[in-house]
Amino acid sequence: MNTAQFIPETLSEIVADVVFTWKTPSNIALVKYWGKSNPQIPKNASISFSLKNCHTITTIEFSKKEKTTAVDFELYFEGKQKQEFRPKIIEFFERVEEYCPYIFEYKMIINSKNSFPHSSGIASSASGLSAIAMCLMSLEHELNPSLTKEFIYKKASFLARLGSGSASRSIEGPLVVWGKHPAISGSSDLFGIQFPYKVHPVFKNYQDAILLVDKGEKQVSSTLGHHLMHEHPYAENRFQQANENVSRMSEILQNGDLKEFVNLVESEALTLHAMMLASTPYFVLMKPNTLEIINRIWAYRKEHDSALCFTLDAGANVHVLYPESEKESVNQFIENQLSRYCQKNHYICDNVGYGAIQL
Ligand code: DP6
Repeated sequence: MNTAQFIPETLSEIVADVVFTWKTPSNIALVKYWGKSNPQIPKNASISFSLKNCHTITTIEFSKKEKTTAVDFELYFEGKQKQEFRPKIIEFFERVEEYCPYIFEYKMIINSKNSFPHSSGIASSASGLSAIAMCLMSLEHELNPSLTKEFIYKKASFLARLGSGSASRSIEGPLVVWGKHPAISGSSDLFGIQFPYKVHPVFKNYQDAILLVDKGEKQVSSTLGHHLMHEHPYAENRFQQANENVSRMSEILQNGDLKEFVNLVESEALTLHAMMLASTPYFVLMKPNTLEIINRIWAYRKEHDSALCFTLDAGANVHVLYPESEKESVNQFIENQLSRYCQKNHYICDNVGYGAIQL
């Protein structure tokens, strides 16, 4: 695998003090990544929608200093210093230092905030780490102005992946594939790429309402979750199925077959949870209200000949996906019939977005 392309050779410029701010999105996987090997290499390809409203905004102030052997940074989340987030960021810097050796020559003050409420059960590692990766690449661009935009995005996704696999899919949009796959030209295990084929217009501005069934801490961290796939009796079949599902999803995204889309997306979500039900140790991550919502979605779909469907991450919250043409009716259905199953009736209306934006 060609990781050498990401080790900078010439850094022609001297840059003293600079500040960059990036806004990067959360994403929701249609075909799931669950299982990896070192260093952050996925066991199967995955594909996701980038979101718009759920995002992280991160500013990094870089001040030039004497080169040191340890990374020197301060970390603020929503204005407050956050010691508990430091280990994940330290680990991230350790993984990327080979590719970003210049980080040892700067003091970094990192200020980050999320658009979605803290501890809403929405994973913030994807948007959080992709935002830091974009700030690093802005610095690298100053140090080497000859870098192309294409390379900057590719390397940002590569760096983000080293922090959190799904973060590699939070640089671009509206659809991103991560993981090498024969049917997706240009795909790689090292970074996410924009879905390279023409997408059917029915998926334009696709809607995602996130129903917050459980706002607590995640019951299973993704690190542990991925680890459970190592000794899992069904792992190999699952990885093969996921790759087949990426091929099927690629067809669906091009031909606009919403019935097939609904079947595949829901099957992926339930299979992810089935993997957790069948691991050692085992986990039930759905809550009673998750199932209430799923049953009501199925009843609504039947009654209204609708294309709404659900997907799940490794938790109890439900992402409700639907075409823009159904926005009004489905939003009413969510407000009137599904919001009661959310903690404090809380849900977030989002839709597909276009990736990282520099502010
Ligand atoms: C269930 O990207 O959070 O959301 O690489 O260990 O940081 P790490 O895992 P992470 O895993 C996400 C798993 C998932 C499915 C998906 O987003 O594809």
